[in-house]
Amino acid sequence: MFSGTKPEFQLSGLDAVTWLKKLESDSIDLIVTDPPYESLEKHRAKGTTTRLKNSKASSNQWFEIFPNERFEELFEQFYRVLRKDRHFYLFCDAETMFVAKPIGEKCGFKFWKPIVWDKKKIGMGYHYRARYEFILFFEKGKRKLNNLGIPDILEEPRVYRGYPTEKPVGVADILINQSTQSGEVVLDAFAGSGSTGVAAANNGRHFLGNDICDEARDITRKRLLEAGATERKILKEKASSPRQRQLQIPMT
Ligand SMILES: C[S@@+](CC[C@H](N)C(=O)[O-])C[C@H]1O[C@@H](n2cnc3c(N)ncnc32)[C@H](O)[C@@H]1O
Repeated sequence: MFSGTKPEFQLSGLDAVTWLKKLESDSIDLIVTDPPYESLEKHRAKGTTTRLKNSKASSNQWFEIFPNERFEELFEQFYRVLRKDRHFYLFCDAETMFVAKPIGEKCGFKFWKPIVWDKKKIGMGYHYRARYEFILFFEKGKRKLNNLGIPDILEEPRVYRGYPTEKPVGVADILINQSTQSGEVVLDAFAGSGSTGVAAANNGRHFLGNDICDEARDITRKRLLEAGATERKILKEKASSPRQRQLQIPMT
């Protein structure tokens, strides 16, 4: 779909699994993604997350999570669309890691280790306040990391007042530089504000992004165009439902 090393991108607005099923097998060089995982609900129930009253990107309601029971169909599609000898990184918390790891392995991935994203400052919580998130490092086939000197703790300050649960471009930047070459294709099925895409564009990689929220895609598109990437429009796509388009995400 993409060609050359000048960054290009395409954005879709479907349910992640529905979207992935439309993609060709063995067509993607790297997956970096951050689903709205189920255990966020628990943080909400305990009141350890914050409603996004001030976020322009929020309707001040809660985001509909992507349930753990859907991980298998999601990871099956990730495995299918990823080329051989490629990597897959999944942002999640400790609780979700225990669920996601065996499902990833069942779907064919080798699980290497959790990488820690150290947010440098404490966040929400009562029992040891949260300062890190995990990024699970999976592999299909065998691919050598580009820099064997990078540690498994990535220190990068959290994003304040951004898109709900926005990840810093700097973290995606490291993952993309470790696991792709210029001109390769990076995919994020839950793109949010497009941090993965911006890092891809900044490094001369192409980006295939998806998010059911219209506003998320608008933000991503703007950031990617500002980063100098060229959009490849989709000619026709079934719109997401109004309910799906609501943006309701708890803060981590
Ligand atoms: C945790 S956020 C991603 C944040 C992103 N990493 C960033 O840096 O901005 C999860 C995103 O998944 C989207 N989403 C939720 N359910 C989805 C689904 N079933 N399919 C596709 N996207 C979905 C939400 O709209 C939200 O933007």
